[in-house]
Amino acid sequence: MASEPAVRARLRLAGQEHLLRFWAELAPGARAALLAELAPWEPDALRLHCRRAAAACARPSGPPPGLASRLGPLPPERLGRASRSDPETRRRWEEEGLRQIASNKVAVLLLAGGQGTRLGVTYPKGMYQVGLPSQKTLYQLQAERIRRVEQLAGERHGTRCTVPWYIMTSEFTLGPTAKFFRDHDFFHLDPDNVVLFEQRMLPAVTFDGRAILERKDKVAMAPDGNGGLYCALADHQILEDMARRGVEFVHVYCVDNILVRLADPAFVGFCVLQGADCGAKVVEKAYPEEPVGVVCQVDGVPQVVEYSEISPETARLRRPEGGLLYGTGNICNHFFTTAFLQTVVREFEPALKPHVAVKKVPYVDEEGNLVKPLKPNGIKMEKFVFDVFQFAKNFVAFEVLREEEFSPLKNDHTAARDNPSTARRALLTQHYRWALRAGATFLDAQGRRLPELLNLPPGEDPPAVCEISPLVSYCGEGLEALLRGQQLQSPFILDEAQATVLRPHDA
Ligand code: UD1
Repeated sequence: MASEPAVRARLRLAGQEHLLRFWAELAPGARAALLAELAPWEPDALRLHCRRAAAACARPSGPPPGLASRLGPLPPERLGRASRSDPETRRRWEEEGLRQIASNKVAVLLLAGGQGTRLGVTYPKGMYQVGLPSQKTLYQLQAERIRRVEQLAGERHGTRCTVPWYIMTSEFTLGPTAKFFRDHDFFHLDPDNVVLFEQRMLPAVTFDGRAILERKDKVAMAPDGNGGLYCALADHQILEDMARRGVEFVHVYCVDNILVRLADPAFVGFCVLQGADCGAKVVEKAYPEEPVGVVCQVDGVPQVVEYSEISPETARLRRPEGGLLYGTGNICNHFFTTAFLQTVVREFEPALKPHVAVKKVPYVDEEGNLVKPLKPNGIKMEKFVFDVFQFAKNFVAFEVLREEEFSPLKNDHTAARDNPSTARRALLTQHYRWALRAGATFLDAQGRRLPELLNLPPGEDPPAVCEISPLVSYCGEGLEALLRGQQLQSPFILDEAQATVLRPHDA
C-alpha cells in the first residue's frame, strides 16, 4: 500500500495536492480508502486529464466550428432498409443471421455503465420495470429475447447454440447488477454465458482544472463514457474470451430501449452479407430536436454526430423531397466484427477524443461542508462508443421501423417523451398489433368485442392490453398457430404456459 507522503508527492506533480487537504482530520479507515483510490493514478495522466477537461470546457460550447460545412448524409449504398426491402431479401438476411447464431459466432454486449441520472433512480436502469402486466424488468425482457433467439437459430439448424451476453458495468452498476442477476437465477441463462465486466472511472474536474472531492475522503468520479468500452475490453481480456468461444460478430446495444432485438438475425445477417466490419441500426428521426445522434459523414467518413453537437439549423435541414436531410437517428445498436474490435483496441483507442459534459457535481467546500450546486460546476469527460466508426473499412447502416424497434426509457414520469409510460405503451401496442395480425380478436371484461386498430394515433393506448413473452415470440413470429381465430379477453398475457394451452395438439 502506498504511503501518504508518496501519494502526496505524486499529486503535487499532477497539480492536485488539494485532494488531501482534509487528511489530518480523517479516521484511519477513511485515510486508507482515500489512499487506495489515489495511489493508482499516474501523475502525468492525471495532470493531462485535468488540463484537457478545463481546456475543452473553455472552448465555446455548441457544435464545433465549421462542422456544418463538413457534414453530408450517408450515401444510399451504405444504407440497408429493413422496412422497404422485399420479403425475399429480408428472409435472406434473417437466414444468414440465424446461421451465424447457430454456429455460436454471435455475442451480444450491453452497455450498462451509465448512471441513469435522467430517469432518477438510484439503481441500474436495467432493473427498472415500466409497469407491464408481467412486471418484467428491462433485464428480464433482454434475457428472454436471448433465450428465444438461441432457440430459433437452434431449431432452424438442428443445433444447440449460445449467444453469450457481455455486460459492461461501472463502479455504480456492477454490484447491484451482479446481485440482481444472482437473485433472479440469471433468468435461466447459464451464468457461464453472462460475463460482467467493469469500465474505468475518471475524476470530475472543476472549470479551472481541479479534481473534485465529493467527500473529505472521496474523489467525485464518473464512468468514462460508453466509449470506455474499448479500454474495458482490453482491461478484462473480453476479446480473448470471445475468441475462446469462437465469437466473430458482436451486437452492442444500450440498456434502455424496451423494444431492443438482441442479436437481431436480420441486422446481423445484413451486416455479414455486406461484408461490413462495423454497422449501426438507425430509425428515421421523429422530429429535428429529437435527442438521438445522427449517422452521417464528416469529410466523407461515416460518423455519428451526437445530438448535443449538432446545431438546430443543421438538424432542421430538409431534403428536396421532404424528410430530414440528417434523419438517420442512431439508436445505439451497433454491429462489430471481433477482428475490427481487436484493431480498435490495439491501434485506435488512444485516438478517440473525449467529449465534454458539464454537470452539477456535489462537492465539499474549503470548510468541509457538502454542497449540492444549483448550477453546473464540474466537467465529466466521456468517450463515445460510436467514435470508432471512422476507422471502419466497410461501415453500413440498417434502417428499421421505430414502432417495431425503438422506444428508449430515458426520463422519469414528469417528461413528455421517452418515459416509463411511453416505453410500456410502445411494447404493449406492438404486441397488440402482433396478435391482431396473427388473427386474434379481443373482448372486454363483459365479453364485448373491442375495436381492431392496427394504426393507432401516437400517444394512444391500444384498445386491449396484450403482452407476449419474448420466450413465445421474438419479433411476432409463430403467433398465427396460437392465436388465429382466438377471442382473447383483455388483459391478456401470452407466456409459455398460456402458449401450451393454445398450441394446437396433434389428434
Ligand atoms: C445514446 C447515444 C445517442 C443515441 C441514443 C439512443 C451515445 C454516446 N449516444 O444517447 O447517439 O441516439 O443513445 O437512445 O451512445 N453508458 C455506459 N457507460 C457510460 C455512459 C453510458 O455504459 O459511461 C451506457 C448507458 O448505460 C446506456 C448507453 O451507454 O446503456 C447510452 O447512454 P446514455 O447516456 O443513455 O446515452 P444517450 O445520451 O441517451
